[in-house]
Amino acid sequence: MDRSLGLMSKRVNIYDLAVGGEGVGRLEDGRIVFVAGAAVNDELQVELTQEKSRYARGRIVEIISAGEGRCEPSCRHVHRGCGGCDWQHLSEDAQADAKISVVEDSLVKLGSIVPPDVGYVAGPPKSNYRTTLRVAVENGRPAYRRSRSNELVQIDDCFVAHPLMEDILAEGFFADAAEVTIRVGSRTGDRLVMGEPHAKNFRVPDDVKIVGRDQARRGANAYIVEEAAGIDWKISARSFFQSSPEGAEILTALAAEWLTVHDVGEQVLVDLYAGVGLFSGTVGDWFEKVTAVESSVSATKDAAHNLGPHVSIHRSQVERWVPELADVVIADPPRSGLRAEGVEQIRKTEAPHVLLVSCDAGALGRDASLMITAGYELDQVDVVDMFPQTSHVEVVSGWIRNS
Ligand SMILES: C[S@@+](CC[C@H](N)C(=O)[O-])C[C@H]1O[C@@H](n2cnc3c(N)ncnc32)[C@H](O)[C@@H]1O
Repeated sequence: MDRSLGLMSKRVNIYDLAVGGEGVGRLEDGRIVFVAGAAVNDELQVELTQEKSRYARGRIVEIISAGEGRCEPSCRHVHRGCGGCDWQHLSEDAQADAKISVVEDSLVKLGSIVPPDVGYVAGPPKSNYRTTLRVAVENGRPAYRRSRSNELVQIDDCFVAHPLMEDILAEGFFADAAEVTIRVGSRTGDRLVMGEPHAKNFRVPDDVKIVGRDQARRGANAYIVEEAAGIDWKISARSFFQSSPEGAEILTALAAEWLTVHDVGEQVLVDLYAGVGLFSGTVGDWFEKVTAVESSVSATKDAAHNLGPHVSIHRSQVERWVPELADVVIADPPRSGLRAEGVEQIRKTEAPHVLLVSCDAGALGRDASLMITAGYELDQVDVVDMFPQTSHVEVVSGWIRNS
């Protein structure tokens, strides 16, 4: 139950950062309070914006004394309330420490794994790395939402956007679309913008492909090509691709390293949630047979273009696919994680080695618990910092089936 909103401000010491990026402190009455934009060991004056019986949410009114990890955000839009990057106020080291700690916490509390030894792998550069951006539109111009709000903050540049997006963000006009996806091939120079629900009356530089909903659905010329790991990937406007080619290469290198250390490969690889085929098309080359399972129409069409004949592509939800025996499973689910249904499918493959790529710490913790119940043991876990300046984590974990 919501209590009445307290407008009185409270003094709070921040002792942790939670999954989702907010600082965590405790109120005098013992309830936990979540505070956006906080750093560990901040001493804050906080105004409560939401009150529940067990916890509250607050907004910073004053920083009485700053925690050691706090720094000045590099992007001017943070001061204007832009919620695009929620951890710009944390130094590089503080961001890394917090990501490791959030993953450790989740593995301990949700996965009952004690004590997890979580590694950290630096990701792409700290700025100008994102090759896909999804932004809202206000009066024809790109905008991000404020943190935990639907209010929009217009932007004409973005600290984490790839330089190939610079003139699109500065000069682009997106008429009355509600949302725009901007996608660039940083190593090929390809550029496109996709409007939702349509892309009528857009004004963008001449070389930028303009894609509307119907064109995206039909797939006709609605794609870019990006190079990563020595391969040219066809990526349609609606297909998933990692946040940067550098990030994609780090993930495939980690997968290659783990498979090499365990001397696995050769027979059957099952690539679940395969997208446009990143893992099937790289480490998949070590296997005689690869099965890629992916539900998106556009991603499976891209995968068919990107992958060789030894990969059989199943357009299906993982939950509905008929499992086959495998030597290795690589599973890279969306933020909701594998859940019981996905873990059950993996169990049925009887794969001795499973590499799980998780993009949500909470989902990783829950999946870890399910994997243990399914007979697997955690061998290695690394946070890959694919999204610098934000609380988003990407975690690669290796699992070995108990004999
Ligand atoms: C995080 S992406 C990973 C894609 C790919 N492995 C890569 O690295 O580029 C997750 C993918 O899972 C797909 N997906 C989401 N839910 C699914 C489901 N229930 N079954 C199969 N695929 C699903 C999405 O379309 C998306 O392509």
